[in-house]
Amino acid sequence: MKPIGLLMREHRLIERLIAQINRELAETSKTGRVDPEFIQAAADFIRTYADRTHHGKEEDILFKELATKQLASEHKKIMDELVEEHALARKLTASVAAARDAYVRGNSEAWTEMVHYMQELTRLYPGHIEKEDKRFFYPCMEYFSKQEQDNMLRTFYEFDQRMIHEKYQKVVDDLEKAAGQTQGIPVKRI
Ligand SMILES: [Fe+2]
Ligand SMILES: [Fe+2]
Repeated sequence: MKPIGLLMREHRLIERLIAQINRELAETSKTGRVDPEFIQAAADFIRTYADRTHHGKEEDILFKELATKQLASEHKKIMDELVEEHALARKLTASVAAARDAYVRGNSEAWTEMVHYMQELTRLYPGHIEKEDKRFFYPCMEYFSKQEQDNMLRTFYEFDQRMIHEKYQKVVDDLEKAAGQTQGIPVKRI
């Protein structure tokens, strides 16, 4: 498999999550209510999977390697746009999570913000994914030899292996922080 095969497979799961957000938004417009549990699950997916795991491989490995090549200006331009879109997705997800927290704390007005930021996410992702799948990934691979592509795929797998540990290290860190235990049992960082 080419490294972009793995990234495109991840795109399919991100699309399924976006479809679920669209379904939830349609439900919300009927009931006028937002399900905070849904928002939490969706925000966690985007933060941990779409951003840290998927964009992480794109930015920290693929784009970084591409930056060492003599890129055609068209590809450089698209790569810059993709990085900007990742930053925007990160900002929107943080805004959804903040609005959700405010809503759970009793600010009933915050639901309109949650809906707004979720709508923005559902607008951003399909175009972003299409740009990568149809205009960027295949021409990108032309810059790499077969050996470089194989190495990149291996680096992708190694990156993925770290994610589950990073995710749950953060869960424990956050629980300790919430309990006011700044001096929890130290866990070795990866
Ligand atoms: Fe991306
Ligand atoms: Fe992507």
